[in-house]
Amino acid sequence: MTFTILTLFPGLFEGFLGSSILARAIERGLVSVRLIDIRDHAIDRHRVCDDAAYGGGPGMVMKPEPIAAALEAAGSAGRRVLYLTPAGRQFTQRTAGELAKGEGIVLLCGRYEGVDQRVIDAFVTDEVSLGDYVLSGGEVAAMVVVDSVARLVPGVIAEGSLEEESFSRGLLEYPHYTRPEVFRGMRVPEVLLSGHHEKIRRWRLLKSIEKTMRNRPDLLDSDGLPEEARELARKIGKEGEGHGYDEGD
Ligand code: 6GU
Repeated sequence: MTFTILTLFPGLFEGFLGSSILARAIERGLVSVRLIDIRDHAIDRHRVCDDAAYGGGPGMVMKPEPIAAALEAAGSAGRRVLYLTPAGRQFTQRTAGELAKGEGIVLLCGRYEGVDQRVIDAFVTDEVSLGDYVLSGGEVAAMVVVDSVARLVPGVIAEGSLEEESFSRGLLEYPHYTRPEVFRGMRVPEVLLSGHHEKIRRWRLLKSIEKTMRNRPDLLDSDGLPEEARELARKIGKEGEGHGYDEGD
């Protein structure tokens, strides 16, 4: 899986690419990242990459020629080309999963007010947003996309660790505990010490549903849940806090 990143600030990616899971994946040849400095493709002596907006208004717009030249040098033809912008479509775990199936993606990071629309029309296949807030550039968003896609590439993460994590089943993840058994007076839930796998599975499903109802009720409105989870959600919804399903019974 190859990530090609076009940016005016390649230095921002240094720490990110050098650490932990991603660095390991690159080292092992599972993932490669190519950083392209858009400024290297500027067409004038002063390497200018932005200009005032036609029609007036505040802020600058990224010029089309350096971006087009950078995209052509990157060999973007036949690849998904993502433009990171708060005006894009919401990026989700589903998007990450789809992108992870391909050979690679190109990420175009905007700065200032954004890029000239003609670059989007000619090259961009997906306008992508992380959520309803504004970042000062696409670089941080590109790191989010690279991280979330790279960890879905087979071999990058240990087998089995992806199955139960948040969103994978339409639910948020259940709580985790490790030693000690008692921390500042707080005990690890008894069921987790029981060794009873079916009880543990049911308890975790219950906790996932409770957490999802509390933090992201919108996720429960979509009907992608397994029947067992829907049943439990109905029971909890009806009976409120005193539902009596705690501790794995
Ligand atoms: Cl993808 N880019 C920028 N600049 N701001 C954002 C975003 C992207 N997603 C949310 N806010």
